[in-house]
Amino acid sequence: MNCDRKFPEGFLWGTATAAYQIEGAASEGGRTPSIWDTFSKTPGLVLNGDTGDVACDHYHRYEEDLDILAELGVGSYRFSISWPRIHPHGGSRVNEEGLDFYKRLVDGLLTRGIKPLPTLYHWDLPQELEDEGGWINRDTAYRFAEYARTVLSRLDGIDSWTTFNEPWTNAWLGYGYGIHAPGRKDIGAAAAATHHFLLAHGLGVDATRELRPECGIGLTLNLGVIRAGSNDPVDVAAQQRIDGNLTRIWLDPLFKGSYPSDMLAHYAPFSPGFSIIQDGDLETISRPIDFLGVNFYGPGTVFAAGREAQARATGYNAGPPPENPDEDHLQILGVETPGRPQTAMGWEIDATGLRELLVRIKNEYTDIPLFITENGAAFQDYVNVAGEVRDVERIAYLEQHLEACADAIADGVNLRGYFIWSLLDNFEWAMGYARRFGIVWVDYDTGKRTPKSSYYWYRDVIKNNTVTLSTK
Ligand code: FCB
Repeated sequence: MNCDRKFPEGFLWGTATAAYQIEGAASEGGRTPSIWDTFSKTPGLVLNGDTGDVACDHYHRYEEDLDILAELGVGSYRFSISWPRIHPHGGSRVNEEGLDFYKRLVDGLLTRGIKPLPTLYHWDLPQELEDEGGWINRDTAYRFAEYARTVLSRLDGIDSWTTFNEPWTNAWLGYGYGIHAPGRKDIGAAAAATHHFLLAHGLGVDATRELRPECGIGLTLNLGVIRAGSNDPVDVAAQQRIDGNLTRIWLDPLFKGSYPSDMLAHYAPFSPGFSIIQDGDLETISRPIDFLGVNFYGPGTVFAAGREAQARATGYNAGPPPENPDEDHLQILGVETPGRPQTAMGWEIDATGLRELLVRIKNEYTDIPLFITENGAAFQDYVNVAGEVRDVERIAYLEQHLEACADAIADGVNLRGYFIWSLLDNFEWAMGYARRFGIVWVDYDTGKRTPKSSYYWYRDVIKNNTVTLSTK
């Protein structure tokens, strides 16, 4: 039986990408390397030695990509701006050629009736700023503010901006666990980076209020939905630790003006950790924002570290202990739920987590407009003999998550829009080109774009402002 879920009038449908993942043209137009150029060119750090040098060649093919977006019928397009295209070497000089690229992109969107939603920072810090300490260095937050001021004052036609995409990922995977650029493995550094990202966000909000008072400003977070594997107090405490790291350490300062005390205590032994907080920082961080972007891929389940036997006894598959001892700082054991499907990233599929997260944000933090700024999945897509990509698993995944969005709206959540990650297959960070999240297939040898079945499915969702649940 089919069941229709209609979305509210004006619900904003979109797709998302990020500069380093799609643009290519890494050394063209005056751009200089970011930490991701350095990281991806260091042997052994990115799968198959892939880099973003060419990526989807969007820098040259953006007109074609804009036509693909227009054909899809989206109301908005979320993309990121590359800092080293605007301020090469992380310096103060403005690179007009870099700005011109984004002006052309924004004009192309506006001409097609698509609302641009730019993100100022999606992980591509100019390498020279990393050489000066990167996000461990407080000065980077002020350099970000300078860069934000350049873009805010020079790029017209935009009515909503986001400061950051997933600062958790850059801070913890990049500075804590060494899996992402800049590849550092230092928990105290990751905690300090967390604070400096939040500070930079607040400075970006101030810059927006001053330079573009008519514009909306927000940020995008990837928050955790992590469940405890049992009611045992040690597992519940483990869940609290990871929830603190993934969720409360971000939302508390932003919406309550303070860090959670359990997290401050947890990171006290790590240097520099949160010792770098200065007077007035939390006021800056907690400046009111106009919307919150939420990225969601899947929930997780944890036990306390060392509880493999208990996890197995209750039917979970306990993975190996983390290879990197730094990851042990939370003293948790991540487990797989037997029988639960996973994406090609190994992420569990359970859309109920999305509704749960949205309701929690509303109940515990804020009722400002929310947008799902990323949701999607990688599967083993392939081009069939007819030249089509029939990504039925992706359609099922998206359907379930849109149902969760509709449920959250029915619960009273102020959800205003939804962006699929991603428009195009692209450079999936440490996994290189080996994981495809696009609703459009990219042939990396020729650059050819082929819309997948999910693209046509999404076009209908947008046209009807309704998702039809075929599985019910
Ligand atoms: C998010 C990132 C995005 C993409 C998806 C799969 O963490 O923001 O760039 O890589 O994951």
